[in-house]
Amino acid sequence: MKIFITKEIPAIGIQMLKEAGHEVTVNPDEDTPIPQHALIENCRQHDALIVSGFAKLDEHFFSQCSHLKVIALFSVGYDSVDMNAATRYNIPVSNTPDVLSKATAEIAFLLMLCVARKAFYQYQKIVNGQWQQFEPVADLGIDLHHKTIGIFGLGNIGFEMARKCRDAYGMQVIYHNRSRNKKAEEMLHAKYVSFDELLQQSDVLSVHANLSKASTGIFNADAFKQMKPNAIFINTARGAMHDESALKNALDNNIIWGAGLDVTNPEPMDKNNPLLFMPNVCVLPHIGSATRETRNEMAELVARNIIAGLKGERLPTIVNS
Ligand code: DGY
Repeated sequence: MKIFITKEIPAIGIQMLKEAGHEVTVNPDEDTPIPQHALIENCRQHDALIVSGFAKLDEHFFSQCSHLKVIALFSVGYDSVDMNAATRYNIPVSNTPDVLSKATAEIAFLLMLCVARKAFYQYQKIVNGQWQQFEPVADLGIDLHHKTIGIFGLGNIGFEMARKCRDAYGMQVIYHNRSRNKKAEEMLHAKYVSFDELLQQSDVLSVHANLSKASTGIFNADAFKQMKPNAIFINTARGAMHDESALKNALDNNIIWGAGLDVTNPEPMDKNNPLLFMPNVCVLPHIGSATRETRNEMAELVARNIIAGLKGERLPTIVNS
């Protein structure tokens, strides 16, 4: 059968699909996110779709591509897909959970450290010729050990972030989630708190929830106002969960201490965005899962889902079951 891929994925996934006897077409125009009309046009000639760059799959898309037998997302997040529409049109959709949890948590951890020690800003000082002498009091960072890490959304990625913070720095773990996470409570002595308590008690607040109606814009001016003045805000999940101008205002006015972002809204972030020039801010270009090993595992999982879907079997990591 014929599979269309919106952006090249690691070779191992493509090889698995070909070995299973399928024909694979990778979108040749890879520089920009594929426009919906081009995506629909391509899908018309294919049986399955792999979404490996941003593409919005909405009601219109599904109404035009209801023949698709399976869609595999090369991501854990599925907020770009109208899952109700996919289900109505009987199209199974898969994502890539678990395999990217450690790599993504690592980026959250990296950002936490970089913000705490103003690493990006200190590097820029060297590049700008401003490293002149030892500074006893200028541009100091803050310690992390034994502070409180607050996790918003304690799924697999949040768990890995909490574990790293506890193991490396003896940090206390608090979390807010739709449901209680008994494993984290037992293994990490994590304490479940309300959203307001999470804001008020976290020294580092790290966002790992799915983007939903309820979580869109949840980190707004009111939320930042409740946080500690020495708090660090980390978002490696989705940029739409924080209100960027409220965040900038909170940083400008010392309402919170710093922020580390691997996700922005919109993406890509404008290169002149003032957040990029603030000492207590570190921004990365959405690289949570970007290690060779992780991307290979994601590609394998995507291939397994497509192969199962094309055989009419249940997808190993189906989202709309
Ligand atoms: C994910 O896997 O959801 C990453 O954020 C890429 O979209």
